[in-house]
Amino acid sequence: MSLAAMYDQTGTPEVLHLAEAPDPAPGPGEVLVRVHAAGINPYDGKVRRGFIPSEAPFPRRIGSDLAGTVEAVGAGAEYWDGTPVAVGDEVLGSGAGAVAERAVARASSLAKRPEALPIEVAGGLNVAGLTAVSCLATVPVGPGDTVLVGGASGGVGIIASQLAKEAGATVIGTASARNLDFVRSLGIEAVEYGPGLADRAAAIGDVTAVMDCHGRDALDAGVTLGVSTDRMVAIAAYAALAEIGAQNVERAARTAENLARLADEVAAGRVVLPVAATFPLEQVVDAFTVLESSHAPGKIVVTP
Ligand SMILES: NC(=O)c1ccc[n+]([C@@H]2O[C@H](COP(=O)([O-])OP(=O)(O)OC[C@H]3O[C@@H](n4cnc5c(N)ncnc54)[C@H](OP(=O)(O)O)[C@@H]3O)[C@@H](O)[C@H]2O)c1
Repeated sequence: MSLAAMYDQTGTPEVLHLAEAPDPAPGPGEVLVRVHAAGINPYDGKVRRGFIPSEAPFPRRIGSDLAGTVEAVGAGAEYWDGTPVAVGDEVLGSGAGAVAERAVARASSLAKRPEALPIEVAGGLNVAGLTAVSCLATVPVGPGDTVLVGGASGGVGIIASQLAKEAGATVIGTASARNLDFVRSLGIEAVEYGPGLADRAAAIGDVTAVMDCHGRDALDAGVTLGVSTDRMVAIAAYAALAEIGAQNVERAARTAENLARLADEVAAGRVVLPVAATFPLEQVVDAFTVLESSHAPGKIVVTP
């Protein structure tokens, strides 16, 4: 038996509570992970509030990002590269209901955690990191590009900005006023989001690509600046995508191989992902309250 964060009805973070549940058993191709760090994401909160429909029966577990230690291995459980998973392996990736002491994960969705990658950072890397990688796969950028990244102070935008810079592009990141210095600390230009964004971005450079990692205002700025719709991608603006004709973020790049590569980049310090705050499992309500109400740059991570 072990503890997991659960909820019995949709609603605010207060619907979350801890409950003891039998340890899930790993099936074929799966492993049981003792979770040491579980990053939480806006998606988790949107499902919990009922904004994104879910067919899962109540009580529901919450979360998907995790880093931890493999405790049990199902039949034929192999990493993406075909090597077998072993009990005791340190891993990161995606697991069902990861905000818990233990969670089951598909072995093929996991990467081995590099020793130099702090466990809290590893626990928050999966969704934000693979979404950022996917933004660059959808709209590849390089030298000669000036990329406007909307929400460069958020989990996805922080990584997308750095990957675009690493690819040789000039990067302009948007954030609230309080986070502009943080965005500059990533080695990129920073402008405040909101009305007038197109003018502020144009004052810095000739924008050739847009990655909107929050909503639609970077997309709208791209339209104003005449950026071609096949050079604009968004991750959370479905109505705007249809209206503008920009690109939805593609899913093909969400692989454990890319997660492993990114984990190496972060471990080597070439890409940074700050952890804004950590909370013990008992404070899961506080963790989601901070996620959904604060503008702290970086990941919120629960450490069961
Ligand atoms: N499609 C997908 O596969 C996918 C995957 C992951 C995430 N998402 C979605 O993408 C969004 C971002 O995820 P995340 O994990 O990066 O979230 P996050 O860490 O909470 O970051 C949110 C970002 O949006 C910025 N922001 C807040 N209010 C804004 C506004 N009014 N105008 C412009 N920017 C604003 C924030 O800036 P400040 O903090 O400086 O205010 C911050 O940079 C969420 O809606 C999430 O559900 C989609």
